[in-house]
Amino acid sequence: MTIIIRRPHAADLQAFLDYRNDAENLRLQPIQPMQAADAAAFLLAQSNLADDADNCWIMFAVERSEDQRMIGEAGIYIEAATKQTGDIGWSMNQAFCGHGYATEAAKLLLDYAFNERKLQCVTASMSAHNLRSIRLCERLGMRLEKTMRHAQPVGDGWHDVHQFVLESPAASPSCSAS
Ligand SMILES: CC(C)(COP(=O)(O)OP(=O)(O)OC[C@H]1O[C@@H](n2cnc3c(N)ncnc32)[C@H](O)[C@@H]1OP(=O)(O)O)[C@@H](O)C(=O)NCCC(=O)NCCS
Repeated sequence: MTIIIRRPHAADLQAFLDYRNDAENLRLQPIQPMQAADAAAFLLAQSNLADDADNCWIMFAVERSEDQRMIGEAGIYIEAATKQTGDIGWSMNQAFCGHGYATEAAKLLLDYAFNERKLQCVTASMSAHNLRSIRLCERLGMRLEKTMRHAQPVGDGWHDVHQFVLESPAASPSCSAS
């Protein structure tokens, strides 16, 4: 095991800001730079989330085992209405990309989704320009379910958005993303 995923805490602030406000991260996702005070409040709220939280982003810090360094995050938004589907995402410090850490973190997140939260389906959505995220979905065995035209305001304009889907190994055959 080269990484673990764990709940975040206050001491993650600088590592969090390092990737959260990275230019590549801002270029590829519909997010704005975050100030340190807002980031600290966000991490505090995340560290206090209940184990069965839903209808909110549940963030896990990705920590490298060899030096306990936080190198990114993986997270999931679980729909409260059915508690059967979740939308996953990830962000890595660019200095630690290209080593398979994000893939390993995403697999641990899928284990959390399917085995701890007992979800039936997991989706992941990203700009069609986000080639590294698309390759990550493919490595996870997710299938491209649909493409929404001009659906996401990202950096330089409106991008098409791909939605990938993965069913739980235990899911019924009728399981599909909304
Ligand atoms: C999306 C993102 C997390 C992917 O990062 P990544 O480094 O490509 O993913 P991994 O850590 O799994 O590394 C996989 C890459 O490392 C390579 N690699 C090297 N050693 C490896 C190993 N031991 N095991 C697996 N892969 C390895 C793989 O070949 C792959 O490269 P490739 O895609 O060129 O084939 C990263 O690009 C990122 O943070 N982007 C900005 C945030 C973002 O867009 N988030 C998604 C919003 S939906």
